[in-house]
Amino acid sequence: MTDQRHLAEVDAAMAGLIAADAERQRTSIHLIASENFTSRAVMQASGSVFTNKYSEGYPGRRYYEGCAVVDQMEDLARDRAKSLFGAEHANVQPHSGAQANMGTYFSLLDPGDVVLGMRLDQGGHLTHGSHVNFSGMLYRFEAYGVDPSTERVDMDEVRKVALSVRPKMIVAGFSAYSRILDWEAFRGIADEVGALLMVDAAHIIGLVAGGAHPSPIPYAHVTTATTHKALRGPRGGLILCEERFGADIDKGVFPNAQGGALNNQIAAKAVAFHEASTDEYRAYTAQIVANASAMADSMTADGIRIVSGGTDNHLFLMDLRSIDDDLTGRDAARLLDTVGITVNFNTIPFDPRPPFKATGLRIGLPAATTCGMKEDEVRRVGTLVARALRGRGDEAEMAAVAGEVAELASAFQPYPVDFPGHV
Ligand SMILES: Cc1ncc(COP(=O)(O)O)c(C=O)c1O
Repeated sequence: MTDQRHLAEVDAAMAGLIAADAERQRTSIHLIASENFTSRAVMQASGSVFTNKYSEGYPGRRYYEGCAVVDQMEDLARDRAKSLFGAEHANVQPHSGAQANMGTYFSLLDPGDVVLGMRLDQGGHLTHGSHVNFSGMLYRFEAYGVDPSTERVDMDEVRKVALSVRPKMIVAGFSAYSRILDWEAFRGIADEVGALLMVDAAHIIGLVAGGAHPSPIPYAHVTTATTHKALRGPRGGLILCEERFGADIDKGVFPNAQGGALNNQIAAKAVAFHEASTDEYRAYTAQIVANASAMADSMTADGIRIVSGGTDNHLFLMDLRSIDDDLTGRDAARLLDTVGITVNFNTIPFDPRPPFKATGLRIGLPAATTCGMKEDEVRRVGTLVARALRGRGDEAEMAAVAGEVAELASAFQPYPVDFPGHV
């Protein structure tokens, strides 16, 4: 039989590290737009015996025996994903968002093909053609960006670039953009130039699931996503597509991009899809959007410039020049970490600084909303962020801010006080 002792008895060092991060998660305010806290049920499935099973292939077509139960489990996950998003086909095997994109590119593109995506320094993602990523190494990515005056994606500009570069695929989606993209217009441009439309919905898929954001599914040939952001599932990827692309997409994931599926993660994705189909989850996503908007508006009233003037989704970008011209994103993020507020620094459109310094902070509300914060609390968090950044160098002010952060964090915790960090 396997060793049945608890982790703390078997490996005190690792148990200690897990407990330390659980403590960090419980005692800080989390504003990283791509992070969230999973339910106990999701964690249980992720930590289940499905971690033991090899199952290369897909339900009914496996390269291993003993997959009857795994087949039912993956079918349940696929069916739930299809029903939650109204999609014809779902692939739940991508290990991550990057691999969902890799599987999609492998299935629908040939090396050297032209692809049009959003500029990384204006909100796009590494997998949309960065030269340090496989996407930029294998394909000829061209880019569209945001309009300098509105800081929004201008569909006339996207069309102009598409007509000039004639891509085989257009990628719509982002990691740091606070507005709603016009999926229908993207599809219109794709049809006009004879391109496929891939929507990378990694950031917004949770909002889509809860009805708090327009769905790209009816317009995109293929939609890729992560399951661990607002969707509140385990770390992982997901691909949704029209039935006619299903077989190619499946092949693009396995065997093109990956080997054996992470069955424990797929089980946990299925639990997350189930949770995301409830009224409670719908209310949660509406609250995320309301919170993001309330926080961005109150910061604006406090004299802080928010890129594009606000937000329609779960995130926004602060332009730190409105606090101090010399304050970099990296320094601001580190400073906030010292008072218990976790954020990430980010370039803003037309940023005068390189990405590793940057001029912006990306602020996201899914995690704080999971902890139960509503508009009043997130406005208070916004004030604390501003006080910390403006009061840097003033030790008494920083201590006062840290005290208030600790008090708020303890009133809005993701897990019970005695939670050891694992189930
Ligand atoms: C738009 C977008 N696509 C893809 C990814 C990649 O996801 P992962 O980190 O799971 O590989 C991310 C991650 O933040 C993202 O924001």
